[in-house]
Amino acid sequence: MNFRKTDYDNYDYSKFWEDNKRLYEDKAERMAIRTLLAGVNKKDKLIVDIGCGYGRLFNEYMDFGTAVLVDNSVNNLKNARERIKKFLGDDPDKISSVFFIASDATSIPIKSDCADVILTVRVVHHLDNPAGYFDEVRRILKAGGVFILEFANKRNIKNIFRFFLGRMDTSPFNMKPSQVGETILNFHPEYITNFLKERDFVIKKRISVSNFRISSFKKFPGTRTLIFFEKIYQKFFYFILLGPSVFLKCVLNKKIDENTTGANNTGANGKIKIEDILICNSCGKATLSISGSKIECKNCGSNFVIEDGIYNFKLKA
Ligand SMILES: C[S@@+](CC[C@H](N)C(=O)[O-])C[C@H]1O[C@@H](n2cnc3c(N)ncnc32)[C@H](O)[C@@H]1O
Repeated sequence: MNFRKTDYDNYDYSKFWEDNKRLYEDKAERMAIRTLLAGVNKKDKLIVDIGCGYGRLFNEYMDFGTAVLVDNSVNNLKNARERIKKFLGDDPDKISSVFFIASDATSIPIKSDCADVILTVRVVHHLDNPAGYFDEVRRILKAGGVFILEFANKRNIKNIFRFFLGRMDTSPFNMKPSQVGETILNFHPEYITNFLKERDFVIKKRISVSNFRISSFKKFPGTRTLIFFEKIYQKFFYFILLGPSVFLKCVLNKKIDENTTGANNTGANGKIKIEDILICNSCGKATLSISGSKIECKNCGSNFVIEDGIYNFKLKA
């Protein structure tokens, strides 16, 4: 496999979505997220968006008691914070329930058994160590917690046609992830399912998304028509996973650890204090001391900083 380069610190990801070039995909993804979050209790609950980017999807989960946005790009997090502050109209009460953490998806400084919901969209295709990421999701999520995951589906209808027409060498049916361009890995649905099953996740629903993503279709019949058909597909044919993107809703069926660290993290008013859910992602201990903009781990001596409202836990190489 070639070297995969992902550098969101030197690329403004919001540009990817501007000018409504991908309005169809954006709407199709939101449709799926709304379906998967319907009926999930949000009041006083903690959601963690891993690989949040510039906070594009924030308004889909803003009703949760607390939102923690995690990304390894400080640049994206800064944009996310500015965007969300504007979106919430600088309401100090609302913004005080939204936190921003810079860290790798495989070493997140959040206590175990803490999150009620974890959301990850358009991220696993970038990860060098997806197993490490799935381990983190399992660790952080409470028993019975909900995990909503999007991944790029290599066994999509376009690839199947291209393969049978001899325009694609690698089979969309084999389990090996296939690389697209410099940065993206596409996965066979069973490959992702295996990661989840090995970690006690039970898949409750699968939705095939962006099912009509063909650039010429955006010109004719046009985005509105595509969205109309997408709605029908997601409502009646969602389980036929032929779209380029798949959303899963999983429930974590792990046993509750008696030494659980984070399950009772809400205060009397249902608010979560960030200090109560953070751990050192270098040694894994809840021994952080926060003073002003400095964070120090009393166990291993690691130092982290808070800059522009972002808790920066990026580990030095
Ligand atoms: C394609 S963007 C998706 C952003 C957002 N989820 C969305 O759908 O708009 C991928 C995001 O994953 C982040 N990312 C990539 N690799 C990561 C890693 N190893 N740990 C944490 N975040 C990562 C990138 O910085 C980027 O913000």
